[in-house]
Amino acid sequence: MKYNIALVPGDGIGPEIVGAAVEALKITGEKFGHEFECTTYLAGGAALDKYGVPLPQETVDGCLASDSVLLGAVGGPKWDSVPNNMRPEKALLGLRKALGLYTNLRPAAIQPALAGACVLRPDIAAKGFDLMIVRELTGGIYFGERGRNETGDAAYDTEAYSVMEIERVARRAFETARKRKGHLTSVDKANVLETSRLWRETVHRLGETEYPDVRLDDMYVDNAAMQIVRDPSFFDVLVTSNMFGDILSDEASQVTGSIGLLASASLGDSSRGMYEPIHGSAPDIAGKDLANPIATILSAAMMLRYSFDLAEEADYIEKAVADVLEEGWRTADIKAPGQEDWLRGSEMKDKILGKLKG
Ligand code: IPM
Ligand code: MG
Repeated sequence: MKYNIALVPGDGIGPEIVGAAVEALKITGEKFGHEFECTTYLAGGAALDKYGVPLPQETVDGCLASDSVLLGAVGGPKWDSVPNNMRPEKALLGLRKALGLYTNLRPAAIQPALAGACVLRPDIAAKGFDLMIVRELTGGIYFGERGRNETGDAAYDTEAYSVMEIERVARRAFETARKRKGHLTSVDKANVLETSRLWRETVHRLGETEYPDVRLDDMYVDNAAMQIVRDPSFFDVLVTSNMFGDILSDEASQVTGSIGLLASASLGDSSRGMYEPIHGSAPDIAGKDLANPIATILSAAMMLRYSFDLAEEADYIEKAVADVLEEGWRTADIKAPGQEDWLRGSEMKDKILGKLKG
């Protein structure tokens, strides 16, 4: 079967890591008899430099016409002083909105081979953890009305959620929990925020009427931030608003000790999704062959699993990555203290491609 993939490499290390993931996809395709046809589109700073806008219509149209999107990362200091509505981040938010990707899955698990990189106390790390943050992605304060007063000395941003917006991401979270350990924690700030009270009410109604088999509990976001470092093994699936999910997912990823390993999937109602590593564009290491390609390669595996229903192929890529890590190979970001035989980004890529070629 043939799949059309829109590539949006973006800025900084984006092009390097997306290139590595494309090679992994091509080899996997040859093994399993699929064709992955990739077309590259500009977004972020790269688009700003060439077209004067962070998200050209051509990119939106190309992504909408594709079967799925693989994104690197956007942004960098070069564009820090551009006007707000031209910022590279606008491209990311705009793409999520244009593609209707209201659910963001961000898994964070401790990999057995990397337990040593975990930043938690050894007795906490020893209990292991494997959690999935389900972040609402096209609503809330990141998309609400914002502005300044006339004199510019006061500003506001608005958090707003409708029942429909809460329901659709919550359903996805309940379904995700069903396929895992059957435990869902809904994270909010219902002791203060009205949107959180609506969130909680809605999630509970769904739980009672449609998902009575899923164990549902609630947690205030400040407490959740604490529990992620105190006892991450408590969690299975977390569902939360756009901003809380943004913050908690960075925390959860760093707890694994390896932000360079974590993939993410952004999904909507169709099978088309957008897949990206959760780390950023890392302009400080761009072009130095230091970037770890693993998170993007694993994002490509998530694409196979969630958009194309190719679970066996996704497992194949994930196993290749796990095997390379198991053998002790590390990039600079995950090397053990004092480890000297660490790999450059392209060397790590070659190790993984070697496994894929089998
Ligand atoms: C992320 C990023 C983005 C977000 C930024 C770059 C707009 O932090 O994907 O988590 O907040 O969604
Ligand atoms: Mg973030």
